[in-house]
Amino acid sequence: MTVDTWDPRQYDRFQREREQPFFDLLALVRREPGMRVVDLGCGTGKLTRTLHERLDARGTLGIDRSAKMLETAIAAPPVAGLRFQIAAIDDFLDGTEVYDLIFSNAVLHWVDAHATLLERLAARLAPRGQIAFQVPTNHTDVSHLVADELTDVEPFRRAFGGWRRDVSVLPPETYARLLYRLGFADPIVRVIVYPHVLAGPEDVVEWTKGTLLTAYQERLPPALFDEFVDEYRRRLLARFAETPEARAPQFFYPFKRLLCWGQRA
Ligand SMILES: C[S@@+](CC[C@H](N)C(=O)[O-])C[C@H]1O[C@@H](n2cnc3c(N)ncnc32)[C@H](O)[C@@H]1O
Repeated sequence: MTVDTWDPRQYDRFQREREQPFFDLLALVRREPGMRVVDLGCGTGKLTRTLHERLDARGTLGIDRSAKMLETAIAAPPVAGLRFQIAAIDDFLDGTEVYDLIFSNAVLHWVDAHATLLERLAARLAPRGQIAFQVPTNHTDVSHLVADELTDVEPFRRAFGGWRRDVSVLPPETYARLLYRLGFADPIVRVIVYPHVLAGPEDVVEWTKGTLLTAYQERLPPALFDEFVDEYRRRLLARFAETPEARAPQFFYPFKRLLCWGQRA
């Protein structure tokens, strides 16, 4: 069983910045009457509720493997047709129920083997069912490269025991091909660079602590993870200090994401 390293408060520190891709993804979905919707990796469930309401869905199921992220969603007053479940995407893939929309915002990059994943997700769609997902595609950004290089530095290297974070996100055109082959006749694949303006470069560390670094946190004892974050901060800020952005009053942090949508014939 994986350690639950997600922290809704840390994640929500950049809630405004994180919401725009959700709305851009939602805008790709064709609203149809009485949709059965599943939101994979729904996090705190706040956006799942928006999804449910905007689509006027018959039923929406939000699933997430983090009990901490789901805590408030599960405790909130019930909304007709909206429910949440603590489960991993792998468990979902083993099921048989079909949906009119499989939606997933900023999650599938945590899941491996995307070609197989898409095939299995497509199998869970009803006829004319839609898939819509958004994944960050910034794995060559310095914020990711520094975390990756630290897996090769002692004392972290020994603690990780040879583990390295895999990049599962594929090139945009590969998603278009995969979706088309799976019977999504007119797939839409868009790369959008979101222009975040942060208070300072230190905010990038706070941002990645809420997401990317959770994968490293899972594999380190707490005290060693604190050391990891300190070293990550030191190296990342040193790299940023070499860039023109570091001299501006606010810190410009472009964030590349990939949005995919398709509807089955
Ligand atoms: C970046 S958050 C996105 C949350 C939400 N979709 C949103 O847009 O606010 C990623 C979420 O994916 C969940 N997650 C990651 N891997 C998962 C998996 N294999 N199965 C289920 N949930 C997963 C995490 O627990 C976390 O809540």
